[in-house]
Amino acid sequence: MSETPRSHGRLTARPTIRPRDLMEGPPPVKGAWTARIVTLFPEAFPGTLGLSLTGRALAEGRWALETVDLRPHGIGRHRMVDDTPAGGGAGMVLRADVVAAALDEAALGTSPDRAHWPLLYLSPRGAPFTQATARRLAATEGVTILCGRFEGVDQRVLDAYAIEEVSLGDFVLTGGEIAAQAMLDATVRLLPGILGNAASTEDESFSAGLLEYPQYTRPPVWQGREIPPVLMSGHHGEIAKWRKAEAERITRERRPDLWEDVVALGPPDKTSAGLIKDLSWESLEATQRLAVERLSDRPSLQPEWLAIETLDKSQFENASRVLAARLQRGDRRCAAILLGWLRDVNWPGGMEAINALERAIGIEPDIRQAQLRAARDKDEIWSEALTDLASARAALAK
Ligand SMILES: C[S@@+](CC[C@H](N)C(=O)[O-])C[C@H]1O[C@@H](n2cnc3c(N)ncnc32)[C@H](O)[C@@H]1O
Repeated sequence: MSETPRSHGRLTARPTIRPRDLMEGPPPVKGAWTARIVTLFPEAFPGTLGLSLTGRALAEGRWALETVDLRPHGIGRHRMVDDTPAGGGAGMVLRADVVAAALDEAALGTSPDRAHWPLLYLSPRGAPFTQATARRLAATEGVTILCGRFEGVDQRVLDAYAIEEVSLGDFVLTGGEIAAQAMLDATVRLLPGILGNAASTEDESFSAGLLEYPQYTRPPVWQGREIPPVLMSGHHGEIAKWRKAEAERITRERRPDLWEDVVALGPPDKTSAGLIKDLSWESLEATQRLAVERLSDRPSLQPEWLAIETLDKSQFENASRVLAARLQRGDRRCAAILLGWLRDVNWPGGMEAINALERAIGIEPDIRQAQLRAARDKDEIWSEALTDLASARAALAK
């Protein structure tokens, strides 16, 4: 085993400092949100994370960045980390034994509970990284990220460590380091106290399911183009109305997929949001763990598994919107299963919240029984339960 992970956070580092110099810093400030990166190229960090807001916060110890070098875990005199693909084919594959040793090093001192400390492998095959993923990560104690290289990583180590695969998008990068920086940038700016103006994360794209409205600044006229007069009016009500209308227009035009959810869901239900707020986070976490445990061995349900993983303290309301979106898209089986599982956990006051959640997402009481059956029973009777659901729906529609 090599030395403990190298820290990139230190109190005296300046944003302009070279990445290599940052690695000489003292251990991260205790309790700060921490990213541990397992990589063949530690010198790629902090990269752009060392600049501007994320860089300043890193230098001030408000978050920490540590790298675990794969190379010292390599085999033999040459510290080989990769080998040819079993079955033939181009390229090389990172060895399971080498990656496992580095992951063990990275696990030192971290919570074994993945809800508190997720373990990610960056891969084009992974679930798409979204703003919800960033919010989930920002609500944890830290994250360990494995950056692949070459043709990727031996599948056995991904299976053995139950690593969550996350993708930056539908394209192939040479390695995971750039993807890790993008994901960390999106996450770190959501940590409390990192951005000066917290409202700026509430207003921006994706926060309310919409893309952001256009922004303008001085001069008032540039090359004959004016700032929309309403923004210069000083009338806050009118400005808010204009921004909302523009956000809706842009979302409708550019992202019909996002717009579909906005139309289907309408504004968030304030009553259920209020009730949900009163739930204790511990009970919510227990539910989350239970649901993830039950879903994680069903690869076909991975999107649903991720949907429930978005249930974090501040985003429960959004999670109900995710459930609602699935319902609206006709994915009633998934929504029923999730709700059934939520019901399985005995929260103090939980039933009331679940009832409110169901009301918010439009599940009629008559259908609930069928949903509970669908949720609790085994695969073979799901079709029967779904038939019940359909007839209950039809009866209600009359
Ligand atoms: C050349 S890629 C391997 C691609 C792999 N053979 C495939 O076809 O899926 C090398 C590494 O880059 C990283 N990578 C590439 N594209 C990525 C993406 N879209 N999102 C996240 N990581 C990516 C992964 O860590 C991957 O192991």
